[in-house]
Amino acid sequence: MRAVRYHEYGGSAVLQVDEVDRPEPADDEVLVEVAAAGINPVDTYFREGSYQPFTLPMVPGVDAAGEAVAVGSAVEGISEGDAVIATGLSKDHYGACAEYVAVPSDRIAPLPEGVDPVAAGGAGVAAVTAWRALIDHAGLEPAETALIHGGSGGVGHAAVQLAAAAGARVVTTAAPEYHERLEALGADAVLDYARTDLRDAVTAASDGDGPDVILDHRLDDYLQFDADVAAHDGRIVGIGENDPAIGFTNDGVARSKDLTYQFMSMFNTPDLSVPLRRVARLMGTGDLDIEVARTYDLDEVGAAHDDVMADSFLGKLVVVP
Ligand SMILES: NC(=O)c1ccc[n+]([C@@H]2O[C@H](COP(=O)([O-])OP(=O)(O)OC[C@H]3O[C@@H](n4cnc5c(N)ncnc54)[C@H](OP(=O)(O)O)[C@@H]3O)[C@@H](O)[C@H]2O)c1
Repeated sequence: MRAVRYHEYGGSAVLQVDEVDRPEPADDEVLVEVAAAGINPVDTYFREGSYQPFTLPMVPGVDAAGEAVAVGSAVEGISEGDAVIATGLSKDHYGACAEYVAVPSDRIAPLPEGVDPVAAGGAGVAAVTAWRALIDHAGLEPAETALIHGGSGGVGHAAVQLAAAAGARVVTTAAPEYHERLEALGADAVLDYARTDLRDAVTAASDGDGPDVILDHRLDDYLQFDADVAAHDGRIVGIGENDPAIGFTNDGVARSKDLTYQFMSMFNTPDLSVPLRRVARLMGTGDLDIEVARTYDLDEVGAAHDDVMADSFLGKLVVVP
């Protein structure tokens, strides 16, 4: 089969397409014929060697969707021929930018009939991270207000929809060209993140009390901002930053409001199949629509890695092998 691999860490030029043996699924694995593999910023961190995947050469691609073509004897709940969705690959296991991938049973879930497999290929990291942040960590409740920074991003656009599906009031930020689409996806208020009066605008859009839950993917930009705008007893979940040397300029604000800060990595999820099943169910009911901004073939995965870090788009970049 054809598989993208990197034999050394480095820039996107280290990615090449190799002819390799089709994987044999172990007893607790499902062999998936890949219909689509989502591209995520973390693919570039792995490729650069920041987290040192367990072995080289490595096949990139954390997310997949496709058809189960062989099922290990210990796997329950998935049969040959089922449409499936997977995530959590390419760190300690070969990834999804290939024609086939063997997926451990705790990282895969069935996909309801009628869900577009290309959109589902882009769902894993984005939607599971949004689920873990908003539902598992922050405990978002109906009638609360959620602030989602960067609502047009992969995680952001999934988070907007999950927060809306949970019955929360959704305030999000994005470049102006995406405002209309984000309103259609369930945002109650969409604010340009470049506004100089963003603090006041967030407070006004949150009925004056401030957001109860904040999902922050740029902690170096927004850690103090989050504390300043959050409601009393607010919960802030941090998933990323550009500069890890982050900090408060006034942590007393956070203390004065009894704020909770939770930092997380999706890869720490004990059993990824649990949130994956929920995400898949919401895709089936139409409550979660993963937007595919652009597709690439296997020869173009290097370009996809560059684009996910540099380009502006709404939703996900997806590889179709
Ligand atoms: N901890 C975890 O488990 C976890 C999981 C997934 C992702 N992450 C991290 O979370 C971050 C986002 O991931 P992603 O997949 O959603 O990436 P993405 O699809 O590239 O989205 C990033 C979004 O941030 C927006 N943005 C740029 N500047 C901004 C600003 N000043 N304020 C608010 N938004 C701004 C971008 O909009 P424009 O392009 O229009 O400017 C883009 O929509 C990355 O750092 C990623 O590594 C962490």
